[in-house]
Order: sequence, then C-alpha cells, then structure tokens
Amino acid sequence: KKTLESIDVTGKRVFVRVDFNVPLKDGVITDDTRIRATLPTLRYLLDHKAKIILASHLGRPKGERKPEFSLRPCAARLSELLGVPVAFADDCVGDAAERAVAALKEGDIVLLENLRYHKEEEKNVPEFAEALAKLAEVGINDAFGVSHRAHASVEGITKFLPMVAGYLLEKEINYIGGAVSNPQHPFAAIIGGAKVSDKIEVISNLLPKVDVLIIGGGMANTFIAAKGYPTGTSLVEADKIELAASLIKEAKAQGTNLLLPTDFVVADAFSNDAQHKVVPADGIEDGWMALDIGPASRKVFADALAPMKLIVWNGPMGVFEMDNFAEGTNAVAKAVAASTGTTIVGGGDSVAAVEKTGVADKISHISTGGGASLEYLEGKALPGIEALAE
Ligand code: 3PG
Repeated sequence: KKTLESIDVTGKRVFVRVDFNVPLKDGVITDDTRIRATLPTLRYLLDHKAKIILASHLGRPKGERKPEFSLRPCAARLSELLGVPVAFADDCVGDAAERAVAALKEGDIVLLENLRYHKEEEKNVPEFAEALAKLAEVGINDAFGVSHRAHASVEGITKFLPMVAGYLLEKEINYIGGAVSNPQHPFAAIIGGAKVSDKIEVISNLLPKVDVLIIGGGMANTFIAAKGYPTGTSLVEADKIELAASLIKEAKAQGTNLLLPTDFVVADAFSNDAQHKVVPADGIEDGWMALDIGPASRKVFADALAPMKLIVWNGPMGVFEMDNFAEGTNAVAKAVAASTGTTIVGGGDSVAAVEKTGVADKISHISTGGGASLEYLEGKALPGIEALAE
C-alpha cells in the first residue's frame, strides 16, 4: 500500500480522514489519544506546506445534526496540540465546506463538521463520497479506528480520490497486520473480556499462529465449565461450552500452550462491595462468581509471557472497573510492559489498564482501534485498508 511520503503534498489540498471519535463529557474531551495519534501525519503535512482538510465522525448521530456530536471541541484541542490555528467548517460538504477549503493557504488546516450528520456517510452513497473527494487533490487515510467500516469517507471516496496511508494507519498495519500475517516467535496472545462469543474469531485466527494463548476475563468461565469444573453463579455462555472444549482440544493437538486461570477471585455478588475471596479454578462454590483471576494465575501468566518475542493483548482479565477485581488486569498490564519483546495492546479496556497502571510508554504499540483492531486480529480484510492505493 502507498504511504504518505510517496506522494507530493506541497501546496496541494489534502483530504485527511482522521478518527477524532473521542469521548466527550459536557462538551469537554476526556481522552485526546486519538487526536494526538494523528499529529505525526499532520506535522508532516504542515512541514510540507499542504492545505489540510480534516474529516471525521463523532459518535452515532445517525444522519441528524445533533449539537452534542459536533467536532468543534476537537478543532480547539488540535490547535492547542499543534500550536497553530485550526479553522472549523460547519458542514463537511456543500457551501460551508467549499468556502472554508477555498480560504486555505499553504500550511493552513480546517476541520470539517461531523461526517455522520449526513446519513449518506454510513450508507456509502457515491454522490456524497464524490462531494467529499471534490474538496481535495490528494487523499490520506489516517483513521485506523474506522477502517473496518465501508463508509463514504473511508471506502467510497477512494473511487474518486486515491487514498494513501498516513503515519498512524501505517503503524497500525505494520504492528497488528504484522502480528497476524508474519509474527515473531515465541508469540503469545492474551485474550480477555466478558464473552467468548465476542472473541471467538480472534481465538480461532490466532490459535494456529501463537505459541502461548492466555485466556482470562469472564470468557475464561466458559472454558472452566468446558473442563467440567463448577462455576457457581459466574457468567457462563452455556451454548459455547462445546466450542470451548473443542478449542482446548485443538490447542493440545497443535502443541499450543493454552493457559487458563488456575485460581479466581470470587464474590458473592456483582459489586465492588461484595464479599470476596480467592479459590482454585476447580473450587468455585454455589452462590459465588469469578470476577478476576487470582494471584497464582497472575504469576503463571507473567512467567509465561517473560520469554516472548511478541505479545498481543486484547481484553481485561476481570471486572477491572471495580477496584477489588482490577488486580488481575493490572498485573497483566505490568507483565506485558515488562516484556523485552514487541508488545501490542488493543481494545478500550486493555488500553485503559495500561494507562491506569502508568506503563503505556513501555508498550510498543497501543492501537487506536476498538472494533477495528479486533476485526484486524480476526484476520479480516478491513475495507479502509483494502481501498488504499497500491
Ligand atoms: C470506534 O470508536 O471504534 C470508531 O470510531 C468507529 O466508531 P463506530 O463503531 O461508531 O463506527
């Protein structure tokens, strides 16, 4: 795929699809990671005197102009981060957009209003994609987080304006794509989260590629049930127990070291204030539910991770938003950070855990993708990446 440096941007109108879908509370951005992640591309464009047109979605306004989904706060934040003014256009197509673009001088930036104020964006309507394309002479996709969506600004636009990968997209492709297609060994994947059904495709795709597969979080309970152990009132997907059993078998047949928790922190209710204690994996009693991996599991997992050359982590080890059940996830965050190999963390909860434990700077790559990083790990072709110019 073509990258930013392979095209001439100087003096050109450059359309950059970014993913500024950031969390907002009362109009204030609570986490600007996704904005910061685009700075290398934007600085390159500024240095090369491009006329920069930024487009993004925010939330899911479903084709309506709802003010709480305005991208205006992102323009202000970006301006602070770059130290240059960032103009804002009230619409992403039509008069307002065209006027704002016409006013751009070399090295100027404008952020267009939310693409999803138009339902044509998600419907990938060609006329809408063409209207966006018309604004620019050159196109860049730096929106990994939305590259799994075949939307007008991500996929449709490339039929009218060839798109190349920005630095952020290139980095995501190199790290996640590289882990999936050509991993270094020994390679470990740590998969957590509440439900097996959410991660089954990731597990199936990675199982033949990894040397160690660690399973934690609520989804581990279904595997514990598959081993025939009691699970008390723990979350178990009854209809996935057979599948879990076959994955255990498959791992064995392939010689993959599948690690399940050897102990749990169990509680008598789904609450941070519930009574809780540590029990072995085969010792969950009636009336108790597993809400975190126990201290022995944390050590087993950390020891298994230590010699790895490549680690991919997606999904928490327990109900980490409750302090009493966060230790397992925090311990895994620290174990991943301590690795001397390449480490890749994706998924909102795992990313939040590495940030909370203060080890984010020790991770090789923190993905800006939620659903996108999961689908990429599942081995799926992402429309936004497929559509890039060769
Ligand atoms: C995300 O937050 O995962 C991306 O911005 C995509 O958003 P969406 O799930 O609303 O398409």
